[in-house]
Amino acid sequence: MTPTDSTAPSCAHDLDAFGILRQCHDHILSKLEVLEAVAVDLERRAEFSDAELARLCDVITMLDTAIPIHSADEEQTLFPALRARPPFEGTEGTPMDCMEQEHGLHKALMIALKRAIMKRDPAATATAARHMVTEYRGHIDKENSILFPMAQQVLSDPAEVRALTLAMQARRRALDVDAC
Ligand SMILES: [Fe+2]
Ligand SMILES: [Fe+2]
Repeated sequence: MTPTDSTAPSCAHDLDAFGILRQCHDHILSKLEVLEAVAVDLERRAEFSDAELARLCDVITMLDTAIPIHSADEEQTLFPALRARPPFEGTEGTPMDCMEQEHGLHKALMIALKRAIMKRDPAATATAARHMVTEYRGHIDKENSILFPMAQQVLSDPAEVRALTLAMQARRRALDVDAC
């Protein structure tokens, strides 16, 4: 990728914490589109082609890299900051708890998808891929439309947002990646 490539992700150091989180969502959504397209192809086939295996390999490699970084941004940086502030301080059953539970579901769905691929089972792979796409799209929609706007109201102090941003940038530096 070059800096002029329109598909190149912008660097995480150009964005604040919420920009980084939304950028990660955009990257993940773009790969879910590919995953959905592969599922459509597999539903018409009795066996895998080399091209489909290669597309699946690319998508899963990207998701296996991006999702752990993104989930760490949320579970280790954003959610603890929200839990330390009213109205969430000392409460249970918060929206963040719900999102963390869904992260666990995504891990299970990814394992199911990989196992279906390992068995070279087109129908099971298509089903698992569609399940992953549906669940993760719904999760991102909830975070983009409800959780992040709420978080930006709760964490309105620029110094707090700066601290979150620095933590997310440090996470990427430690892994030698620019974006998730
Ligand atoms: Fe999430
Ligand atoms: Fe997210």
